[in-house]
Amino acid sequence: MCGIFGYVGKNNNAAQITLEGLKLLEYRGYDSWGIAVKSGKKLDVEKHVGKIGSAALKSSIINHKSSIAIGHTRWATHGGVTVQNAHPHLDCTKTIAVVHNGIVENFEELKKDLIKKGHKFISQTDTEVIVHLIEDFLKKEGFASSVRDAFNLLKGLNAIVVVNAVSSEIIAAKNGSPLIVGIGKDEFYIASDLIGISDYTNKIVFLKDNEMIILGKNIKLLSLPKGSRLKEKIEKINFKFEKSSKGNFEHFMIKEIYDQPKIIRNIARNYSDQVRKMSHLVESAKGIFFIGAGTAYHAGLAGTYLFSKNAHMHVNTSVASEFNYLEDFLTKESLIISLSQSGETIDVIEPLNIAKKKGSKIIAVTNSIGSTIYRMADFNILLNAGPEKAVASTKAYTAKLCVILMLVFALIKKEKEAELLLNNAAKEAERILEDNNIKKIKEIAKTLKDSKNIYVIGRGLSYPSALEASLKIKEVSYIPTEGLAGGELKHGTIALIEKGTPCIVFAPKDETFESIISNATEIKSRGGVIIGVSSKKSDVFDHFIEIKGLAQAAFITQIIPLQLLAYFLAVYGGLDPDKPRNLAKSVTVK
Ligand code: F6R
Repeated sequence: MCGIFGYVGKNNNAAQITLEGLKLLEYRGYDSWGIAVKSGKKLDVEKHVGKIGSAALKSSIINHKSSIAIGHTRWATHGGVTVQNAHPHLDCTKTIAVVHNGIVENFEELKKDLIKKGHKFISQTDTEVIVHLIEDFLKKEGFASSVRDAFNLLKGLNAIVVVNAVSSEIIAAKNGSPLIVGIGKDEFYIASDLIGISDYTNKIVFLKDNEMIILGKNIKLLSLPKGSRLKEKIEKINFKFEKSSKGNFEHFMIKEIYDQPKIIRNIARNYSDQVRKMSHLVESAKGIFFIGAGTAYHAGLAGTYLFSKNAHMHVNTSVASEFNYLEDFLTKESLIISLSQSGETIDVIEPLNIAKKKGSKIIAVTNSIGSTIYRMADFNILLNAGPEKAVASTKAYTAKLCVILMLVFALIKKEKEAELLLNNAAKEAERILEDNNIKKIKEIAKTLKDSKNIYVIGRGLSYPSALEASLKIKEVSYIPTEGLAGGELKHGTIALIEKGTPCIVFAPKDETFESIISNATEIKSRGGVIIGVSSKKSDVFDHFIEIKGLAQAAFITQIIPLQLLAYFLAVYGGLDPDKPRNLAKSVTVK
């Protein structure tokens, strides 16, 4: 969601630097974008609806030869996707502009007051109130205190970056989404994540909640509530953004599906030490909770089954956004294992903030070094899955499953067994990705592409797989799907099965096999078409996707054919699987 980038310093091509920065943040998901650049004592703004892609800036903007600019990629919340609603937003005098990530919950009342005072609004956004508020304060005080006073009036979780053409300063303030400052030689960068900055410098200040920073000739950090000066902590982060290319693949999603064998193998070979350390934290905790959103939640849910089955331990898994309402019982001895590819998901950050206040321990399993969740954690495991650019998560999901499997086996002192299982899983992933299997999945996708709806069932460890397969299919193909536990069918959903309704059935050869085949038979008796995902053929299957028996690791690889199916359903539906409508890669707004 919304990407922010800004530059102030010795170079006089600030607009171009900002455009390049925004392009790196494209993956976060957006629908429009814009840049504000200083032109004399005023600001000039260029905004567009749609993709930055290979966009170039208008020559009028480039010609300003300015050394200060800010930019934004917008994912609409308040107000439609229009050029007017795109950020940056200007004040009435066109000397200050703001870009924003978050939601100003009290924007309506603030806007009414500002209109009464004569401010002219040109957008429907909540963001525009911020710049007019600052403008109002500027009539009686300096730039820094105006930004601070304005920010302190905002309700909700927000991050803003403001540029002032008169003072030639950028000020950023936040109490929610991430903002990161890069310090170069006589220059500063600000961005919503490291990826935008790491090409320029490794000297980083991570702005904390309730802080504001002034960037101009110097850097100055202030407390938002008190206005007092703070000492900025400059960290050296040696992170090089691995530019990901699609190679010979048509989309990132398919490329990332193919990355999986390598990632599984890497975890098998290189994670035993760090996972053992993690297992000590698990052993000393009283009350362990997995939290995550969407796909990450499904990985946690699989963890609950694995812990129970192998380590005979109960671990709760909660949808991260619901954990806010379940935290009253947390203590200093509780352990939260937060799962997040981006490390920036607000729904995970919020409950972690509460857990931290209660003194609970936090483990972060993320794919993003230096991300907010990474920095909040007492212990980190990085997935090292490489950049995941497609909005739909694939390789980060299987990587999380591998880490959880290693963790459970470390607890029962069977690390070598886990390594073996994962090495076999890597081989099985390679087999699933062989051409003849792809051909088969393509054929199934062709028969399903016009389906009105698709159901996916599984039991035990395959229940999270059913939820994940359903999510993957719906988000990239837009075909309504429902994933459910096989046992739940008769409690409602079977009412929707009619002649020709497709149902995907996860039937690994484990203790769930007989019962899930019974469920498949019940669906088939009502006219349903069964797509069986199993190591054993059954008469009830109309289509058969073979997965080789992998004992305890089948739950990792059996999702791969379904990721492929989702991908081909999107392609055959004429859709871009990498950028599904309305979705963002990094969900930084509640
Ligand atoms: C689905 C998907 C999302 C994410 C969710 C959490 O394919 O990608 O459901 O899994 O938004 O994101 P992270 O893992 O970045 O916290």
